[in-house]
Amino acid sequence: MYNGLMAGIIWIIVALIILFVAIVFGVTMLFGAAFVPSHRLQTRQAFKKLKPLTKKDVLVDFGCGNGVVLEEAIKNGAGRAIGIELNPFLAILAHVMNHKNERIKIKCGNMTKVKLPEDMTVAYIFGLKKVMKKLKPVLERYAKEHGRTIWVISLAFKFNGMKSIKSYGSYWLYKIE
Ligand SMILES: C[S@@+](CC[C@H](N)C(=O)[O-])C[C@H]1O[C@@H](n2cnc3c(N)ncnc32)[C@H](O)[C@@H]1O
Repeated sequence: MYNGLMAGIIWIIVALIILFVAIVFGVTMLFGAAFVPSHRLQTRQAFKKLKPLTKKDVLVDFGCGNGVVLEEAIKNGAGRAIGIELNPFLAILAHVMNHKNERIKIKCGNMTKVKLPEDMTVAYIFGLKKVMKKLKPVLERYAKEHGRTIWVISLAFKFNGMKSIKSYGSYWLYKIE
């Protein structure tokens, strides 16, 4: 009797874990971009080689997943880091992982629709080409409206019609004026 109850509880826990993982990794597939986190060490190196961050920098990670890039941005010198994430489960996870750091904020929403912070200086994107295609005009409009340069780092995919300034492995740096 006792063993049967325990086995039932274990099966329920396993099923809940599978459901959670399926939602976290699967929901955004519907929108065309799965969750794959950036590699911590490589991202750290990419910041150093492509755009050394300073206290004046405000980095926005477009599609922040669990927030690993935000954490690395702060550790590597950025003043603030903001993550925008479409998948509410990932947005909650990113918030839980980073809520103790006052310099990190998470917004749940579509990266092309949410209001961007007034002081963004660096944009980070690890997303599919079709996501990047939609983001490009948003960044160009932002740079024009705010009258300043925006540094853009992309991972794995290049921006169509934009010449990168530097690259490091699969990371590219762009300057939008
Ligand atoms: C490849 S993951 C990268 C996660 C994180 N930037 C990193 O490098 O560790 C892409 C993320 O973008 C999110 N995403 C896809 N389309 C989005 C959109 N339109 N607005 C906001 N987030 C989006 C996905 O949910 C996913 O978490």
